[in-house]
Amino acid sequence: MKKYKMGIIGCGWIAPFHAQALNRLRDRVEVLWAADPDQARAEAIAAMLADAEVEALADYRDGLARVDAVAILVPHHLHHPVTLEALRAGCHVLLEKPFALTLDEADDMIAEAQAQAKTLMVALPHRYRKSTQAFKAIIESGDYGKLFMLDGFMDEDNREYITGGWFVKKATLGGGVYFSASPHLIDVMLWIAGEVRTVSMVGARAGLPMEGEDTALSVIKFKSGVVGATRHTWFSPKPHRWYTMRAYCQRAVITLEIQPLGSLAVEGANCQFKSKITIGEAGQDERVVLESDEGLDLTEEARHFFDCLDSGARPQTDGAVARELMKVALDAYRDAEITGAN
Ligand SMILES: NC(=O)c1ccc[n+]([C@@H]2O[C@H](COP(=O)([O-])OP(=O)(O)OC[C@H]3O[C@@H](n4cnc5c(N)ncnc54)[C@H](O)[C@@H]3O)[C@@H](O)[C@H]2O)c1
Repeated sequence: MKKYKMGIIGCGWIAPFHAQALNRLRDRVEVLWAADPDQARAEAIAAMLADAEVEALADYRDGLARVDAVAILVPHHLHHPVTLEALRAGCHVLLEKPFALTLDEADDMIAEAQAQAKTLMVALPHRYRKSTQAFKAIIESGDYGKLFMLDGFMDEDNREYITGGWFVKKATLGGGVYFSASPHLIDVMLWIAGEVRTVSMVGARAGLPMEGEDTALSVIKFKSGVVGATRHTWFSPKPHRWYTMRAYCQRAVITLEIQPLGSLAVEGANCQFKSKITIGEAGQDERVVLESDEGLDLTEEARHFFDCLDSGARPQTDGAVARELMKVALDAYRDAEITGAN
């Protein structure tokens, strides 16, 4: 196993989650620097990292030649240029979702990774969570009959998090909540139910100062015959459950719930969680089959990245998978534009 030298590009809200994960994988990685034009943010993340003498850089370009890989955690409109620059400098890339703003950008990034023979993985954390994997395994065991419907709901209050800056503009976010965050639901659905045949969405502006929608619902028909629905709000006055995914099989409803115990938007990586899977069958009380404190822990996602670097295997969430996911959201937006639903 090689120990990779790594840099972190972008030291905002999500960066402490990555720092925690990398700290847990010190046998696989040594972080040399953390970069952000906001010097205080770069210093804060550098100080969080367990490696000795992590440098805080104002410009990530000053560090690219010294590392094997980078984690890119920047606003969405910068995913394309920063990824291209890192790949061209010879770095493997772990890039936060969503992949890019357009399919042309996505194609460019996939082509550049191929041309440079570097690994490009998109961070879609739910697939790498143990409880999501257990949820999928229960469905696929066939013990409860055939899956026919998936129902996903994210109920969030992001009033403290989305107050301005790049989050509120379509040109920098890429759309609204459906483009930015509903992929956390849709990716799990694609992973379980396969390719999408049709998708349509409706959006609402409940109160965040965003150009795009802060609330979105969608319906999806998968080529496998499964139907799916997503509901997502960033403006919930009283979030009940942060993340819920229900799988309707012929003989049981299987439910995955992930619940922060405090305010995720405010507490960030310090927030504690509870995860649970329940199975409900006709005529029986719903029973809990898994309970854990797993939340937005990115350790398994990062471990997968390093495993792929070691073996040369394609990441589970490589450019092609992330492009497909992006296309679902863009197709849904196109449909909503025609019907006036967003
Ligand atoms: N997986 C998840 O659940 C999850 C949650 C939140 C955010 N994200 C993703 O993480 C990424 C960052 O989001 P965030 O919430 O941390 O945003 P943020 O605004 O809090 O942080 C972005 C940081 O990037 C920095 N930055 C801007 N230009 C830069 C540059 N040229 N070089 C280096 N740094 C630069 C900004 O100064 C800022 O500190 C986005 O892709 C977002 O979708 C993922």
